[in-house]
Formats: sequence, C-alpha cells, structure tokens
Amino acid sequence: MATIKNTVRLLAVDDSADTLEVVQRQLTAAGYEVITAPGVAEAVRALGTVKVDLVITDLRMPRSDGMELVRHVRENLGETAIVMLTGYASIPNAVEAMQTGADEYLAKPFTEEELLHAVTSALGRLRLRRAGAPTDEPVSSEWGLLSASPAMRRVFRDMKKASPSNATVLISGESGTGKELVARAIHYQGPRRAAPFVPVNCGGIPDGLLESELFGYRKGAFTGASESRAGFFQTAEGGSIFLDEVAELSLPMQAALLRVLQDKMVYMIGVRQPAAVDVRVLAATNRDLQRLVEQGKFREDLYYRLNVLPIVLPPLRERGDDVLILVRHFAEKFAGEMRKKAPPFTERALALLQAYSWPGNVRELENIVQRLVLMVERDVIDAADLPALMRFSADGDVQQDSSLAEAEAAHVRAVLAGVNGNKTRAAQILGIDRKTLREKIKEH
Ligand SMILES: Nc1ncnc2c1ncn2[C@@H]1O[C@H](COP(=O)(O)OP(=O)(O)OP(=O)(O)O)[C@@H](O)[C@H]1O
Ligand SMILES: [Mg+2]
Repeated sequence: MATIKNTVRLLAVDDSADTLEVVQRQLTAAGYEVITAPGVAEAVRALGTVKVDLVITDLRMPRSDGMELVRHVRENLGETAIVMLTGYASIPNAVEAMQTGADEYLAKPFTEEELLHAVTSALGRLRLRRAGAPTDEPVSSEWGLLSASPAMRRVFRDMKKASPSNATVLISGESGTGKELVARAIHYQGPRRAAPFVPVNCGGIPDGLLESELFGYRKGAFTGASESRAGFFQTAEGGSIFLDEVAELSLPMQAALLRVLQDKMVYMIGVRQPAAVDVRVLAATNRDLQRLVEQGKFREDLYYRLNVLPIVLPPLRERGDDVLILVRHFAEKFAGEMRKKAPPFTERALALLQAYSWPGNVRELENIVQRLVLMVERDVIDAADLPALMRFSADGDVQQDSSLAEAEAAHVRAVLAGVNGNKTRAAQILGIDRKTLREKIKEH
C-alpha cells in the first residue's frame, strides 16, 4: 500500500556535504524523496524545475544565506514548507526565520528523531495550508459540496448541465458519497427551485404502502382510507421527486413508475382516470443498476428512462486532498457548534486519515471528525486519538506482513465500521451477499 510519504519530495540545502549526506540518508530511510543543493542559487534553480513540498535549509552559507531562500520560497512558492537549520549560536536568527515564513527550525547538531519531528510537523502545517487554500486546485463549495479534486470537477460539470434541464437524472455512488446533496443542489439551482423537493426512500417504505405513498388514494379506495390523500408525486407538483435507493423498488413498483415516466400521468388508487403531473424525477442508487438489469432484477426500460443524465459520484478515497479539506471543514463546523476553536491535526494524524479507505465515504468522515472534536482533551488531534482500525488499516507495514485472511478480516471490519455496522450496506460495498458476509464475520 502506498503511504502518503512516498509522494512527498524534500529539498535539502546546505554548504556542508556531510550535513547533506546525513539529512538525505535519514529522510530517505523514512520514506521521503530527497534532493539536495549545495547553495541558495542551486536550490532556486531546482525549485524552478521540480515540485518540492518541503525545503530544509541551512541558515549560514557562504554566498547568500538561508534567509534569502526563505523569502524566495514564500514569495514565489506560497505554501511550500520550510525547516531552517541553524548553529547553536544563531537562535535569534532562527526566530527571524520563523517570522519570515519558516515553519520549523532545528539547531545543529540534531538527532535523527529531532530531524524527523521537525519535518513531520512542518509538513503538517503544509497540509493544513493546502487544505485551506489550495493554489492549483481551488476548493469549490458549490451548493454545499466541498471539493478540490478533478474527480469531483466532472461531477460539478454534469450537475451544471443537469440543473436547468427537465431530464431524469440517475445519481450513483457508494454509500455516503453525497448523492442526496447532489440531488438537492440540482433541484435548488434549477428553474423548479420555488416548488417542492420531495425525497422518498424507496428502500424504507414497505412495498404494500409504497404505491399509496407515491401516488395517493381516494377516500374509500380501500379499508381505512377514510380521507383522500395526495401521494408524493402530487406533493411534488411543479418541483422534483427524489427517488433514493431506487434499486430497492419491487418489479411491480418499477412497472408503475415506468408508466408515470412515460405518460407523465399518475394513477391515484381508487381513481380510474389518471391525472397529469409535472414532476421532475431525480433517482439515486448505491448499487450497480446495469448489473441488476442483467440479472433481471431491474427493468431495462426503466433503467434507460432513469439514466438519461447519469451522474457518478467517486468514492472519497479517489478524491485526493478532499479528505483534508473535509476534515478541516467538519472540524470547524463541529467546533463552532461547541463554541470552541477547531483543534489542529498533527501531520501523522492527517496522513492516517488520508491513507484510510473510507468505506462509508463523506458521512463516515463527518462522524469521525465530530467524535474527535467532541472527545479531544488536549489542544491537538494526534494519530493516537484516531480509531484503532484506522491506525491499523493505514499502516503499510502491517498489511504487507499479514496473511490474506488477516487482511480480509481487517477490510471486512473497516467496511462494517464505515457503515455503522449496517450489514446490507457492507455486503454491497464488499460485493458479496449478506449470507457470505455473515459467514465471514463468524469465520474471523
Ligand atoms: N462534498 C461534500 N462536501 C461537504 N459535505 C458533504 C459532501 N458530500 C457529502 N457530504 C455530507 O456527507 C453526508 C452524506 O451525504 P449524503 O446523505 O448526500 O450521501 P448519500 O450518498 O446520499 O449517502 P447514502 O447512500 O448513505 O444515502 C451528509 O451529511 C452530507 O451533507
Ligand atoms: Mg442518501
């Protein structure tokens, strides 16, 4: 498993070849990519050709000194992290370096541990800076959806196309990826925004009730129907109906829905004449509808009617730095609700959060951050504060040493935790049926 460190590139700058050699050896061993430069001029040249996440620079060097490099980086490379190396006699200069924009300073001589600590803590700040103000990938908070990742940019583009139109939209994505948020945004940004948005959980209403809930009934249509009642479709008149978990519809209900989509007419129970409705249909699923079609569990004609404008939400683990943006967003949100300041996360904690697979996606992240903000006793959140399963699942070494069975057990546990123990959801994510999942839980 690739850990986050593999992608971090450091530039070490020192006129002493010995220091460069030590720094390079120790940090390479810690998994960083390290390039070196013997002076400020060479460093500036290197920074112009490769992307560097962190610069470790000596302060006193013969030609121009390290402070020049700090200024250059801050003026031209914005967020890049900086660790300043100083001789014991130049602490006042170190203070000045910090004021100019260095993240950490380290007095020579230093131990390997001190070096690693300075580097990880400077990278921690870098992550927070990037999460707050990414330069090349601006954070979009369009319609309450936060993202800076290319994967989500495509989603935003599709949403912009979908919003003004009347066409049916099928939103698919794993559990917790934001499907409902997307549906609401499409409705509230479109021309129907003044009319209702009516969400219906197709999996949550017993089949016997669904028809009357969706289409309504006339007084006396069946025993107990003492009043006429409008269904969700009538309620949504002029607006949008959001059919969540649409794959859970039974075949007879699929047929009824298809009729509505084809005729734009609704048959109230107990009324012979259909009534015209003007409702836009937005549907969502966390299942592979096309596969269900192949298996004969979902009507093909209905699938094509729904899938006019498909929007596919990528899982959180494919959204890069979005994890950091969302961690920060929810930390501020929940801290704000408690009228306190959001606690910062250490570099190690952020690396674990980013390496985690997030089977429950944004919802899982939201829950975890809420718990952390609520429970944290000190003023920072560190790796040790994170759930054990996260520390385990993100640790590349442990995974490489574990047997297939152990890795499987850990993955099953992680997925279950991500969906709050919901076995139906977990089985869907794992691509197995519930019976197999139960067997695996027993086995492990
Ligand atoms: N990009 C995002 N930015 C901010 N918050 C988000 C984002 N995506 C999702 N959320 C939040 O995460 C939670 C889950 O989102 P939502 O309910 O829309 O997911 P879903 O795909 O419908 O999940 P499920 O399949 O479990 O119903 C919500 O609280 C939502 O506000
Ligand atoms: Mg949902």
